[in-house]
Formats: sequence, structure tokens, C-alpha cells
Amino acid sequence: MKILVTGGCGFIGTNFIRMMLAKHPDWKIVNLDKLTYAGNRLNLMDLEENEPRYEFVQGDICDRELVTSLMEDGHLDAVVNFAAESHVDRSINDPTPFVTTNIQGAQNLMECARQTGISRFVHVSTDEVYGTLGPDGKFTESTPLAPNSPYSASKASADMMARAYFETYGMPMVVTRCSNNYGPYQFPEKLIPLIYLNAKADKALPVYGDGMNVRDWIWVEDHCLGVELSLLKGRDGKAYNFGGDAEETNIDVVRTILAVLGKPESLITYVKDRPGHDRRYAMDYSLAAEELGFAPTLGFREGLEKTIAWYEANTEWLETVQSGAYRNFMDEWYKERS
Ligand code: NAD
Ligand code: DAU
Repeated sequence: MKILVTGGCGFIGTNFIRMMLAKHPDWKIVNLDKLTYAGNRLNLMDLEENEPRYEFVQGDICDRELVTSLMEDGHLDAVVNFAAESHVDRSINDPTPFVTTNIQGAQNLMECARQTGISRFVHVSTDEVYGTLGPDGKFTESTPLAPNSPYSASKASADMMARAYFETYGMPMVVTRCSNNYGPYQFPEKLIPLIYLNAKADKALPVYGDGMNVRDWIWVEDHCLGVELSLLKGRDGKAYNFGGDAEETNIDVVRTILAVLGKPESLITYVKDRPGHDRRYAMDYSLAAEELGFAPTLGFREGLEKTIAWYEANTEWLETVQSGAYRNFMDEWYKERS
């Protein structure tokens, strides 16, 4: 099987490419990535140098000509679209790149796939398209889409486009919706690596609002497994939920990281809340369990310890990805909120 993976130099894409090439000796992967601030080509440099089944192409999913030329390769069996602007806080500061990549870019990929007759398309979406939950219940695939941030609105728009491409053109399309991932290679703007970095440096740990917002955490390789199963076994026109069975309040996540690192809770600093902050996410993934045989493999505490061990062993990676642009963004963001 030969797959075009987009956004493969980001957090989940990197894990997916590594996992799939290791698991499937007969698979080939072309990775199309624009290398935004969140994409790091070095993540997969060992494969670029030593693995003939892997090819990197720098480029934009919005580029019709480039995408068409990659898809016109007669041996291409499937497309897996991870490429996106992925950070909610950035979408609040400036929604425009989210519309460009997450909606227009995704539609461009779908259109090129339609024109070139690609026989499988997996569009990677998120639980955030469903909006927010109260204290009870879980999102199912029939929960109405009710996004609250510019990020989730852009992802929900692409989900609707994927649905339309299936209904209108019969395009072989599967959508995946997953909860919060954690693990190696996550960019340190997201909660877990950001808290890890700050705690290591004995810096304040910014917790939004009252810290009682709940996220369902999934080990990144379990999400990759869900995407793999969707690619191989998903029914056309369906969306599948994936979750980690690990609902945690943000403050508990922060306290657990402090406990693992042996750092004091006095570092915790409550800051102004994220506007439109979703209160709780929880995933009912019984459809994926029944139809695809999906089940998460790792508990939260074990996964968090593995994640922290990876960051401890990869301080050079953390230094590399923290460019000047990243620091400026974070400084501005926290200045506004503290
Ligand atoms: P990320 O921000 O770490 O990586 C995104 C990658 O996409 C980067 O390598 C970036 O360079 C690339 N990219 C951005 N714009 C592009 C463009 N126009 N053309 C080509 N490449 C482009 O994101 P992530 O956390 O790995 O998320 C990957 C996907 O999974 C996203 O679609 C996201 O919405 C979805 N998702 C993420 C999570 C999570 O917890 N991180 C959970 C559910 C779903
Ligand atoms: O649920 C899936 C989504 O998870 C993905 O679709 C997104 O791409 C991904 O970024 C993630 O979104 P969140 O907004 O949930 O992740 P983040 O790590 O930014 O925040 C997790 C929670 O922690 C959220 O409730 C906000 C809070 N938070 C975050 C940061 C960065 C803080 O309290 N302090 C912080 O400094």
C-alpha cells in the first residue's frame, strides 16, 4: 500500500508514520508537509536518510498543482489528512490560517482526490467539533456538531465537506474524531509539554480559569491505531470516535506532572480563562470498538510517565522546536492573560 500522509512532520503525523512503516513492511509513505512552526522535518530525518519506503515533500495542502501531481502517481492507494493548524489559543488570536488550511486546504485535498480517483481518504478530525458537555454523558457520532472556537469551527467545516464529498460524489471517505492526544513529539504549546517544560524550569504553571475543565486523554499511538483501523476497515461515509477512557481535570493533570517530577504545587498559577473554553469532553467510541475492533491500550498515568521520560531523553528536540517565533507568541499570550 502507498499512502499520501499530510502534516506528517507534526506531533501525531510523526508518530503515525513511524508506527505504520514499522508495522507494515510493504507500505510506502509520502509525507506532504508545509513545515509551519509546528512541523519539524528533523522528527523523521532518520527515515529520510535510511528508509527508501519514506519520502518527504515540502508543500502546502492548498496547492492544487502540487497535490494533483502527487496524487496522479498511479500507485497511490490512500490519503490520510493530518495537516492542520491545531492550537485553539492561536485560532482565538487569528482565525484566518485555520480557515485557509483546515477548510480550504482540506477541500483542496478532497477535490484533487476526486479528480484523480483516489480509492481511500481518511480525514483526521477532532472531538472538539461536538462542542462541550455538562457533567454527564459522552459524545457519540450522532451528537450534533456545535463547535465553539475558530479552530473547532474550521474542523467541523471540513467534516461537513467530507460528508458532502461522500454524499454527492460517492467519494470513499472516512472521518476520525479523537480526544486529546499526548506522547512523544508534541509541540510545547499544548498543556502537557508546556507544563512539563515550565515545571522543569521552576516557572509558573498557567492553569486557565478554575482548572476544572475536563479532557479525555489518549496515548498518541492509540489514536494512530484508530486512524490505521479506519484506513483499513472503516465504512465509507462514516465518522468514528476515538477516546482514551481517561477523563481528567486540567488541575489533576498538572498535579500529576508535578508529582512525577517531584516539583512543588506552589508553581501552579491560575490565569484568565480561555474565551469560549469548552468545559468537558468525553468520548463514546463503541462504534469504533464494534466495527473496527478499536480499544485504547495505555492508562493515563503510565502514558504520562512514558511521555515525560521521552521529553527527559529528548531535551535537544525541545530546544530545537522552541524557536524565537514560538517564544514571542507564548510571551504575548500569557502577558494578556496574567
Ligand atoms: P500539529 O500542529 O502538531 O501538526 C500539524 C502539521 O501540519 C505540522 O507538521 C504542520 O507543518 C502541518 N501543516 C500545517 N498547515 C499545513 C498546510 N497548509 N499544508 C501542509 N502541511 C501543513 O498537529 P497535531 O496535534 O499533530 O494534529 C494533527 C491532526 O490531528 C490535526 O488535523 C488535528 O486537528 C487532529 N487532532 C489532534 C488532536 C491532538 O490532541 N493533538 C486530537 C484530535 C485530532
Ligand atoms: O480534544 C482534541 C483537541 O485537543 C485537538 O483537536 C487539538 O488540536 C489539541 O490542541 C487539543 O485541544 P485542547 O485545547 O484541549 O488542548 P490544549 O493542550 O491546548 O489544552 C488542554 C486543556 O488545558 C484545555 O482545557 C486548556 C487548558 N490549558 C491549556 C494550556 C496550553 C491550560 O489550562 N493552560 C495552558 O497553558
